Amino acid sequence: MTTPARGLTVRPLDPASPAYAEATRLRYDALYREWGLPRSLTDDANAAAFYHIGVFDADAIVGYARIDLALDEPQIYQVSVARDRRGEGIGALLVEVLKGIAAQAGHTEVWLDARAHVIPFYERLGFEVVGEEFLSRRTATPHRRMRAPLGGDADAPLGG
Ligand SMILES: CC(C)(COP(=O)(O)OP(=O)(O)OC[C@H]1O[C@@H](n2cnc3c(N)ncnc32)[C@H](O)[C@@H]1OP(=O)(O)O)[C@@H](O)C(=O)NCCC(=O)NCCS
Repeated sequence: MTTPARGLTVRPLDPASPAYAEATRLRYDALYREWGLPRSLTDDANAAAFYHIGVFDADAIVGYARIDLALDEPQIYQVSVARDRRGEGIGALLVEVLKGIAAQAGHTEVWLDARAHVIPFYERLGFEVVGEEFLSRRTATPHRRMRAPLGGDADAPLGG
């Protein structure tokens, strides 16, 4: 696995914080901008329902993801890495930290809906495809449902 650059830190994000506003810009750019979709897609009224994390290089946010831990089968969403920081292990760090948080909360597996072209990224992180291809509601791009068991050595704690 790609080793994240030294000096990166992973922190929980409060939806009321300025850092969360930065994260919202980052995920719009990573997930929706190329489709010309409205920015309002990231104005989520239900942000408090999720546990949010950011990867920071000093004070700059370079990665973002969230997990819904209230579900029987916790789900990861919105894995986003700044365009100019991809390929440094930041995406893997986000997913591993969220897996660790879900494991610490007592869950035995995590789920996500992966864009089809990103499936190999998640397979490297222990996920397997479990569902048929479907088109996402927002971008109408092909997705597959994936799951990963928890409890392996790779489930990293929150840290930096
Ligand atoms: C997908 C994304 C999160 C990956 O983040 P990243 O920081 O570039 O990924 P990493 O550097 O942590 O890569 C980890 C491993 O996955 C591989 N990988 C990364 N993106 C990949 C892709 N699209 N396809 C295949 N492999 C990929 C890397 O080569 C690396 O492999 P290694 O373990 O052999 O070194 C990032 O490209 C992104 O933000 N994309 C736009 C948003 C998006 O599509 N998110 C996913 C929604 S389901």
